[in-house]
Amino acid sequence: MKKVIIDCDPGHDDALAILLAAGHLDVLGITTVGGNQTLEKVTNNTLKILECAELTHIPVARGMGEPLMAPRIDTSDIHGPDVHGTTGLDGPELPEPDISIIASHGVDFIVDTVMSTNDVTLIPTGPLTNVASALRREPRIKDRLAGISLMGGNLAIGNVTATAEFNIYVDPLAAHIVFSSGVPVKMCGINLTRQVMATDVEIGRIRSLNNRVGTFVADLLDFYVGSIKRLYGLPGGALHDPCAVVPLINPQMIQFEPMRVAIERYGEHTTGMTVCDYRHLQDSGNADFRTIARRKGAPPYTDVGLKINRDRFFDLLIETLATYP
Ligand code: BDR
Ligand code: CA
Repeated sequence: MKKVIIDCDPGHDDALAILLAAGHLDVLGITTVGGNQTLEKVTNNTLKILECAELTHIPVARGMGEPLMAPRIDTSDIHGPDVHGTTGLDGPELPEPDISIIASHGVDFIVDTVMSTNDVTLIPTGPLTNVASALRREPRIKDRLAGISLMGGNLAIGNVTATAEFNIYVDPLAAHIVFSSGVPVKMCGINLTRQVMATDVEIGRIRSLNNRVGTFVADLLDFYVGSIKRLYGLPGGALHDPCAVVPLINPQMIQFEPMRVAIERYGEHTTGMTVCDYRHLQDSGNADFRTIARRKGAPPYTDVGLKINRDRFFDLLIETLATYP
């Protein structure tokens, strides 16, 4: 089983990432980061999810609450209750957790685990503050990590702004540190994750599993998909975060393309944008174009997710949820 650390801010789709990962991978620990809600709330949510799924053997370490680089908005706007609610995990009623976090700080947990364990992959599904802090604190983890498979960014348009996706927008400096680190990065951006929208059909399939975790997830998705329908008029809600887990379980399910990705940190209108150089993918009819574009950008390249098989994704997710109590 592949060894992973999940770095997250649950968050409805973060919860799904945890459940999918724990069904197939050796989850060495979960670190929490301020994002969808405050650090306190997302940490508490993580503990609740683990208790509900009887995954209490997985250690949880609380990480960074605030970004390394504050975005150009009032920080009280960062924790957007629109989609995830005031708790960050609105919908299901879960009891307050009995388990607690471990004593280590999340950043220390990442550093210590990666330094003592070979071939760990990080799966960040929130702002990249913890991962960037770990890379800064102990640069030797760059050579020890198997890779980073993250949810964040976008090939073209954004969700928080016209050009920026939430996880990158919250901490663009952290994203820059991660993307330029030289660690192999797989990016599951919203161009990819919007291909796996959960609708009432999928919620029905999950509810009919008739187990505790299935009911919990169906309640989560009722709230999440309901918010997205109300706010954006879409028929379903994109399950962003579990996409970052998929390459560790089934590498064929997502088609990736290597390209140079720069993080916009100082743009007037584009702060938090993942500037993806995909000129070589354009159907220009000019054979030289591909060569020229490849020559332009220096490595490191990021593997940017372009296509995911929707049917196989939902089958994998629902089959995994069926294995829980
Ligand atoms: C990302 O932002 C959060 O709302 C989700 O949990 C996901 O990680 C999508 O832009
Ligand atoms: Ca998230």
